[in-house]
Amino acid sequence: MEILVKTLEGLEPALEQEIKNLGFEEATVLNRAVLFEGDIKDMYRANYELRTALRVLLPIHKFEAINEHMFYRKMQEINWSEYFNVNQRFAVYSVVSSQYFTHSKYMALKAKDAIVDQFRDKYGKRPDVSTYNPDVEVNIHIFENKCTISLDSTGESLHKRDYKVASVEAPLSEVLASGILLSSGFETAKIFHDPMCGSGTFISEAFMIHCNIPPGKFRQEYAFMKWKNFRQSVWDAVKENADAKICGPTTIQFYGSDINRQNMFSARKNLYQLPFGDQVQFSKKDFLKESLNPRPDFLIMNPPYDIRLKSDDIDEFYYQIGMRLKQDYSGARVCVFSGNLEAMHKIGLKANVKLNLMNGAIPSVLHCYDIK
Ligand SMILES: C[S@@+](CC[C@H](N)C(=O)[O-])C[C@H]1O[C@@H](n2cnc3c(N)ncnc32)[C@H](O)[C@@H]1O
Repeated sequence: MEILVKTLEGLEPALEQEIKNLGFEEATVLNRAVLFEGDIKDMYRANYELRTALRVLLPIHKFEAINEHMFYRKMQEINWSEYFNVNQRFAVYSVVSSQYFTHSKYMALKAKDAIVDQFRDKYGKRPDVSTYNPDVEVNIHIFENKCTISLDSTGESLHKRDYKVASVEAPLSEVLASGILLSSGFETAKIFHDPMCGSGTFISEAFMIHCNIPPGKFRQEYAFMKWKNFRQSVWDAVKENADAKICGPTTIQFYGSDINRQNMFSARKNLYQLPFGDQVQFSKKDFLKESLNPRPDFLIMNPPYDIRLKSDDIDEFYYQIGMRLKQDYSGARVCVFSGNLEAMHKIGLKANVKLNLMNGAIPSVLHCYDIK
């Protein structure tokens, strides 16, 4: 069966590589998604093990329609009681980009009608529709006349890893941080340092990658657990196999620091949730004034952008970051992720990796430099 994994714009290559690393050579890259063939176990694995996945969809039916009547009829051809029963609650979400159908909410309503009518005709009873914690989520994707009906196997987005117990202002999404790390080349580092660590998302995600801690390790709920065909023993085996690879840090020492003591404590609390996370060292430091001992050979940072976190003179701040890197970090690899594209130029170094990404609604860039 087809398994469609959704991700953030710009992270498709990282997700494709992750899927290949799971052993699926035939992966097709789409816009903000990667498609591969697998079975139920592979769908569980995608949810549990893919760091750059936002959600995992299972396409169950594809058809063509050019008006709402055709759409309704085709929706009724699906045997819905194969997927859930009349006592379960369901929700429908739709994304429409079509000259034939203009309102996505209306198409979601049509889909709900078709499903409810089918149950009522068969059983004389109808399932409830609920967007709050539904048992089954149906996903409708319409592009022109092509309609794809999928079940959402994930539920709440996979960036909710459930290890974060403390947050700060403007934290990064775990999925975004993972994608950035997988594009950064950090895995060859010996001393990894995030000198503006905030809640520690980069350190947590890098630590989890290095120590083979599955991104789903702490999550209790996935939508597929409420499906009629949920196989507890297969799910247990998926978790057991992945968890068996967890190890302590081997070749990398991890460090985090922040100018704000409270933020540094938040990062430490979050790392304490992870197995071996107490091996990460934290300190309070102003990156512009103090250095870390030992000297890092890999730095990654997400400085304030002057959007959510304000700075007095953002251009000068980025200029100072660049100066500091040139003066004190020769030989190191440095990756800076920021949503202030203007200020990024002030760093004054030539990037050998440039990746355009979105941080929520903020167009952002990742620049990596090998400091001479
Ligand atoms: C955008 S936040 C980082 C968020 C982080 N990536 C996360 O996911 O939580 C920027 C961080 O830089 C810190 N910061 C600002 N100026 C700094 C400086 N001169 N030295 C060290 N940290 C600094 C702030 O305290 C803040 O925690």
